[in-house]
Amino acid sequence: MRLLVTGGAGYIGSVVAAQLIAAGHDVIVLDDLSTGHADAVPPKAAFTRGTLRGDAARVLSGGADAVLHFAAKSLVGESVARPGLYWSHNLGGTLALLEAMRAAGVRRIVFSSTAAVYGEPEHTPIEETDPARPTSPYGASKLAVDTALAEYARMHSFGGVSLRYFNVAGAHADDDGNWFGERHATETHLIPNVLAKALPGCASGARAVQIFGDDYPTPDGTCVRDYIHVADLARAHLLALEACEPGEHRVYNLGNGAGFSVREVIDVCREVTGQEIPADVAPRRPGDPAVLVASSARITADLGWRATRDLRTMVADAWAFTQAAQR
Ligand code: UFG
Repeated sequence: MRLLVTGGAGYIGSVVAAQLIAAGHDVIVLDDLSTGHADAVPPKAAFTRGTLRGDAARVLSGGADAVLHFAAKSLVGESVARPGLYWSHNLGGTLALLEAMRAAGVRRIVFSSTAAVYGEPEHTPIEETDPARPTSPYGASKLAVDTALAEYARMHSFGGVSLRYFNVAGAHADDDGNWFGERHATETHLIPNVLAKALPGCASGARAVQIFGDDYPTPDGTCVRDYIHVADLARAHLLALEACEPGEHRVYNLGNGAGFSVREVIDVCREVTGQEIPADVAPRRPGDPAVLVASSARITADLGWRATRDLRTMVADAWAFTQAAQR
């Protein structure tokens, strides 16, 4: 298939683009490089630097069978400070993309949604039928797109799949040995933050990782999250692409079904790197729910998808990527 991957210069988009190419598809990446990196675009993909509003229509007019849509703003904290930016990019940009798809007669889309649509969960593991009550503009803007996709399926015969990611981690190497991984200018995520402390260049005064709160109602007091390897996550996109049916919008959670606490994650990072990595307890980070764990039973039942890589593999791959990026 000929596929448009928006946001294919970012972390998850680049890994999915690499897997699509390995599966024999032709991939065109559209990315404005506001947070992505040109050198993260897989070498065999065609690349257009541009925006959803300004350039998607032109790119799609060249023909495409489907779109995998990752381009978005994705920092929860930033979204609280700048909601307009999030509504404009995540909803406004996506509506422009959907209209460009309609004009070009492209009706299949796999969308990068998020666990943040659920907000503070009522119970775990979270199922797709649970109430979606986002607590941030980021989650709200992604939920609005999920809703728009349901409308486009109903009214315009789109076939859409929204994949709601939990905590994505790890990195992916393609058959040519190119690494694709997490490289954010502002890094807020736990695993890359902890691994950065284990690098030889880390200043001795900055070696301690901060644990945001140890008084949550969890076994060790730190927050529990459901970590999923980015390569497992990417594989779900290939299955979702095959499952896009005209007139249908589906929603799937993507997680491992198991939770790990912040302290457990730091311990695995210590094991993998062989470094002590000191940790200090800091105040809670506003807006962090105590526990977020997914039920991925629906995608397992419908598409046969299962997470296959454990937390140790995620950390080991993220570490290999972090070290490769230093060279
Ligand atoms: N944490 C620390 N120290 C750090 C970084 C994070 O203690 O230096 C803690 C956080 O407080 C949280 C846990 O580690 O308890 C995981 O934090 P991340 O920032 O790695 O991930 P989040 O669970 O906050 O965010 C993820 C996705 C978001 C998505 C959200 C859904 O990255 O895109 O889940 O709520 F919106």
